[in-house]
Amino acid sequence: MNLKVCEAGEMVLRQPARALTVKEILTPEIQDLIGSMYETMRAAPGVGLAAPQIGVGLQLAVIEDRQEFLGKLPPEYLAERQRVAVAPHVIINPRLTIEAGGDVEFFEGCLSLPGFTAIVARAHAVRVECLNERAEPVTIEAHGWYARILQHEIDHLHGTMYIDRMMSRSFMGRENFERHWKNLSMGECRKLLDE
Ligand code: CO
Repeated sequence: MNLKVCEAGEMVLRQPARALTVKEILTPEIQDLIGSMYETMRAAPGVGLAAPQIGVGLQLAVIEDRQEFLGKLPPEYLAERQRVAVAPHVIINPRLTIEAGGDVEFFEGCLSLPGFTAIVARAHAVRVECLNERAEPVTIEAHGWYARILQHEIDHLHGTMYIDRMMSRSFMGRENFERHWKNLSMGECRKLLDE
């Protein structure tokens, strides 16, 4: 089922989500919810969707970065972002650890803030300990764009959105991003935005 995505202003996007029990994860209700979240993320389309975004205050998110989309992007754009395909998977009750490697800045967006984008600094590498859809413990080591997706989705589970972390002067509409900024390097963007 394709679910309605909550936009900024819905209370649930600003509240910490609660952890799921192993027993809950294995219920048909949660398994169905996961299926609907995949469907909603793919229809959007997006590379991640957290349960609070569909009005459910649970520590659950789905992630998928499809080769089908990556194939339409320039190789140099993908290389700069260290963006590679990520197979569909679920993170439940995640614990995030920032790894060495510093921060990297890129424009990012969110399905709950449609039509906008901004530069957000995110850790280059992270480790995530969580449960999968079978309630099994999983450790994910990620860097580049995948690490960014994980940080963005885990933020949602704590009531945080990218606008809380963005370089505020870089906040802009998608159309203007496409028109003026899309083809600039991050260094050039920085230079144009710094006072
Ligand atoms: Co988001």
